[in-house]
Amino acid sequence: MSIPSETAIEVQGLECRQGERTILRDVTFSVRRGELFFVIGGSGCGKSTLLKHLIGLLPVAAGRIAYFGSDFTAAGAAERRAMQQRFGVSYQYGALWSSMTLAENVALPLQEYTKLSAAEQREIVRWKLAQVGLAGCEDQFPSEISGGMRKRAAIARALALDPPILFFDEPAAGLDPITSRSLDRLILEIRDNLHTTMVIVSHELPSILGIADRAILLHRDVQGILADGPPRRLLAESTDPRVREFLAPEDVVSAVHQP
Ligand SMILES: Nc1ncnc2c1ncn2[C@@H]1O[C@H](COP(=O)(O)OP(=O)(O)OP(=O)(O)O)[C@@H](O)[C@H]1O
Ligand SMILES: [Mg+2]
Repeated sequence: MSIPSETAIEVQGLECRQGERTILRDVTFSVRRGELFFVIGGSGCGKSTLLKHLIGLLPVAAGRIAYFGSDFTAAGAAERRAMQQRFGVSYQYGALWSSMTLAENVALPLQEYTKLSAAEQREIVRWKLAQVGLAGCEDQFPSEISGGMRKRAAIARALALDPPILFFDEPAAGLDPITSRSLDRLILEIRDNLHTTMVIVSHELPSILGIADRAILLHRDVQGILADGPPRRLLAESTDPRVREFLAPEDVVSAVHQP
């Protein structure tokens, strides 16, 4: 049994809607402090929808979300905003502002949530960009750098306020395998150095099987969680064809090649 103070996120009986349509129901899980927690599943199963509910971007239809023991769902506006300041988010389609330099992009959360001087902000921005391997890129514009560098810059922006919880929606989407692995190393480094709790939506099997401590697999059939556990264990032990289809697509490929 986990010690309550070590629980970073607790979700109970959550129902998630998009407009009038229920996408997920009765979602229950908890995430330990410092855990690399993955949300996985096929396209359209509700991963981004769940993330948007977790960070308070969409209203909760039913159920409860708590962070470090504080009820997020029942919190008033001011308390909610204070809790949201402790989240770093990199959205699935949340690109950087193209008209701003990397430094200006990373400084945005500092401007919005802190009263730091321009010089202090510059210092933090320089350090955050260095942390993600982009030292010296302060004055570059997003269009001048590669896709992998843009993802790193978005992570630097999510890290700006030293959040105890990070939410990443498809951080490696569209990256080549080598860049994708280097992003995994960065994620591990952040967790090991800062003990950050991370909720990561991903399709990338090498990341899921390589770095996730635990994952929930969402599925449309059940409108919720189909499997929950360390991905390697799910792969080794689950006999559910829907779990295998996702975690071991080579099973499907070899089946196709059978006469
Ligand atoms: N803004 C929206 N308005 C109405 N329905 C939406 C909206 N966004 C998503 N949906 C619907 O909610 C369901 C879940 O979508 P969601 O984006 O959460 O899936 P996902 O698992 O993140 O998929 P992907 O892997 O393609 O990013 C889909 O049926 C989608 O059509
Ligand atoms: Mg999505």
